[in-house]
Amino acid sequence: MKLKQTAAAAITAMWVSATAFAAPFGNKDDLAYAAEIWVNMSAAGFTGKGATMSTPYTGMHPHGAILDTIDTRLKVGDNDDILIIKRNYGGDGVSKSAVANDPEKYLKAVTVMYRKKGFDADIQDWFWVKYAPDGSVLKNPKGVSLAGKVGKGMAKGCVACHQGAPGGDLVFNHDRYAK
Ligand code: HEC
Repeated sequence: MKLKQTAAAAITAMWVSATAFAAPFGNKDDLAYAAEIWVNMSAAGFTGKGATMSTPYTGMHPHGAILDTIDTRLKVGDNDDILIIKRNYGGDGVSKSAVANDPEKYLKAVTVMYRKKGFDADIQDWFWVKYAPDGSVLKNPKGVSLAGKVGKGMAKGCVACHQGAPGGDLVFNHDRYAK
């Protein structure tokens, strides 16, 4: 009996730590903050019909066939800092001009890096999110929401890949953004 309880406790402990390890992002706070960013982005004209965009350009894996990227600043509560939005476009007939004419038709995802002071110095305080076009947060194949420190300390994910960007600020288009 005692042994069984101990075993059960050990299994529970293992399960809890395995769960915690599997998801260092996508928790309740991350989702709440992602929702707050979206509301403020929308109020500032960065989502939906007629959203501010750059000239579409040909993209590369994993960000989609055609991309547009803008960098700006956004205020979320007391935090007023850099926001980089990369929109991913795809689907039948996608091309730079098709996207320029009707961005909403081809929009597949909106990936965001937002600098939230004090969030996590190890990753330059970048908060990461991948939204569906309607502002809901997309999930990875394991069902974990892509918001927060996505891929930190892992083999895959936003942070894992962006840590390879030159300049040490996790930004690939270092010359153009995040100045
Ligand atoms: C396998 C590598 C890889 C992964 C994973 C990845 N990215 Fe990127 N990301 C890139 C590359 C490469 C660029 C530059 C592409 C370009 O020139 O437009 C980029 C660009 C960006 C940019 C524009 C700023 C910059 O760095 O130039 C944002 C914003 C962004 N990614 C967000 C995300 C988010 C959010 C995730 C996770 C949901 C993610 N990325 C996952 C490789 C990756």
